[in-house]
Amino acid sequence: MNIIICENYEEVSARAASMVADVIKKDSACKLGLATGSTPIGMYSILSEMYKNGEIDFSSVSSYNLDEYYPIKKDNDQSYDYFMRENLFSKINIKEENIHIPNGEAKDANKECEDYECTVEKSGGIDIQILGLGVNGHIGFNEPANELISKTHVTDLTVSTIKANSRFFESEDEVPKKAITMGVGTIMKAKSIVLMVSGKNKHEALSAILNGNISTNVPATLLNLHPNVTVICDKEAYYGNDL
Ligand code: GLP
Repeated sequence: MNIIICENYEEVSARAASMVADVIKKDSACKLGLATGSTPIGMYSILSEMYKNGEIDFSSVSSYNLDEYYPIKKDNDQSYDYFMRENLFSKINIKEENIHIPNGEAKDANKECEDYECTVEKSGGIDIQILGLGVNGHIGFNEPANELISKTHVTDLTVSTIKANSRFFESEDEVPKKAITMGVGTIMKAKSIVLMVSGKNKHEALSAILNGNISTNVPATLLNLHPNVTVICDKEAYYGNDL
């Protein structure tokens, strides 16, 4: 695991954006694995700027998002579909047909999961997978449990995740109780993984990853088994205190 300790959130965003940009510059038809949450917002804004300045071109790039609430309408401003359009897709020249996000409106959620797993499989492999980190150590929506599911699946959100994510909704009651998420196996198939971590509330989960032991109760610790992971974190997350 490569670890980059940054001064602050801005540097985390810039470092991650530059890693994504390098992949795009090397292969204009690369496959990006994308994440939502507050952590990657700064990175998306830098990538949008880089596109505007003509540094990178998304016309042949494909994207595969990690997860989506279920059920949720795409036009709900808390859906991950909406988030991606708002923070990135509306600002770059990615083609609509190259955007892949689990469908939170699907009638048959299990069928949607099977189809999504196939779509990722058929991509030939995600070149760079961006991940955020849940306070409880989740990646995507793979929540702490005695057993983890390898493929894309429907999952129940834990009470702690519903609470953590309620900050984006009007009330806790409005947070969907389920989600569709790539499984840990789907994530681990990516050729490279960048885990972005910012803020002291992530310190405990980050320490569990960095101590090298693996537990399904902190799903992100499984990243220790992947051959090409870069953790980009800020000092608050790394040291666990205000700076
Ligand atoms: C959410 C998402 C994750 C995200 C994580 C951290 O619930 N499903 O993909 O990485 O929680 O979110 P944040 O970056 O807002 O802390």
